[in-house]
Amino acid sequence: MIKFEHVYKQYEGNSAIEDLNMEINDGDFFVMVGTSGSGKTTTLKMINRLIEPSTGKILIDGQDIKKYNLRKMRLNMGYVLQNIALFPNLTIEENITIQPDSLRWSKEKRKNTAWDLLQKVGLDPKEYAKRYPHELSGGEQQRVGIVRALATKPKMVLMDEPFSALDPISRRQLQDLVLKLHRELRTTFIFVTHDMSEAIRLGNTIAVLSKGHLEQLGNRDDILNHPKNKFVEGFFKLEKNGQDTVNLMLDSGLGQTSDLEINSSLLKEDTINTLATELKEHNGKVVFKKDGNNYLLTTSDLIDFLAEEEDN
Ligand SMILES: Nc1ncnc2c1ncn2[C@@H]1O[C@H](COP(=O)(O)OP(=O)(O)OP(=O)(O)O)[C@@H](O)[C@H]1O
Ligand SMILES: [Mg+2]
Repeated sequence: MIKFEHVYKQYEGNSAIEDLNMEINDGDFFVMVGTSGSGKTTTLKMINRLIEPSTGKILIDGQDIKKYNLRKMRLNMGYVLQNIALFPNLTIEENITIQPDSLRWSKEKRKNTAWDLLQKVGLDPKEYAKRYPHELSGGEQQRVGIVRALATKPKMVLMDEPFSALDPISRRQLQDLVLKLHRELRTTFIFVTHDMSEAIRLGNTIAVLSKGHLEQLGNRDDILNHPKNKFVEGFFKLEKNGQDTVNLMLDSGLGQTSDLEINSSLLKEDTINTLATELKEHNGKVVFKKDGNNYLLTTSDLIDFLAEEEDN
């Protein structure tokens, strides 16, 4: 467990974090969300001591993090950055095994680890292991970034807006991927985003930050249905823009092709209001014809879309 106790951080007299108190449980998918400058990166970097608090304490499993051996502690903390930061002159496999190398793992163990993880994130190692970063798309590179953070089987993984540079479809795929990895590995994931729909989608526990203050800490339901104050309410308010079209929703990567039978005559050009009515009528699942395929949209797609709209 990670525990923040009365943590403050000032930069040259300016306060970035004020009296932060919170706990992050082992195995949690913990998301910190807030506007730019709210102190998310500062908070994340205080966990791996890239930044030191001005006052206050951070404890891991009851012990002040200052008392741990820094190198050993960081080996237990994977770190995924926003700008993917792979080494251009190393192959994908070499990029992934950079930390295992420094730990002098055997060649075989290094390779097995890299290949297993590549497989897990949907990159066929036979095809990708020997390639160089510039031969991969942005989304594929970020998959490698995630794999690299997982290579030493860390106890926790810190992720700072890892998907913010990706297009909406790759972003969705990678969100699904981290959810899958979290289910499989049961590692603690600490994920920073300013995108509230991403926060709602991924977070088991969500910390809402504003101007260095923790405004609310809770699960999805707490945050959406029981906002503690006007800030949280405003930040997550699903302002329904009924005039947007279904097309816009599909463009943002929502929905999927389906084997289910068509139950609606919905058109791409119809409005979100129409979709909402259809969803109500068909128990939250609308299947319609789109470009020759059967296409499924659900109530949670609609909520995601409204959440994304609010954020833009
Ligand atoms: N090295 C620094 N020196 C001075 N001020 C800093 C420094 N790093 C951050 N700050 C300030 O501290 C505050 C919090 O910054 P932080 O990077 O933690 O925000 P953030 O929530 O991660 O924002 P973003 O969403 O833009 O990444 C901001 O006002 C920022 O200007
Ligand atoms: Mg930041």
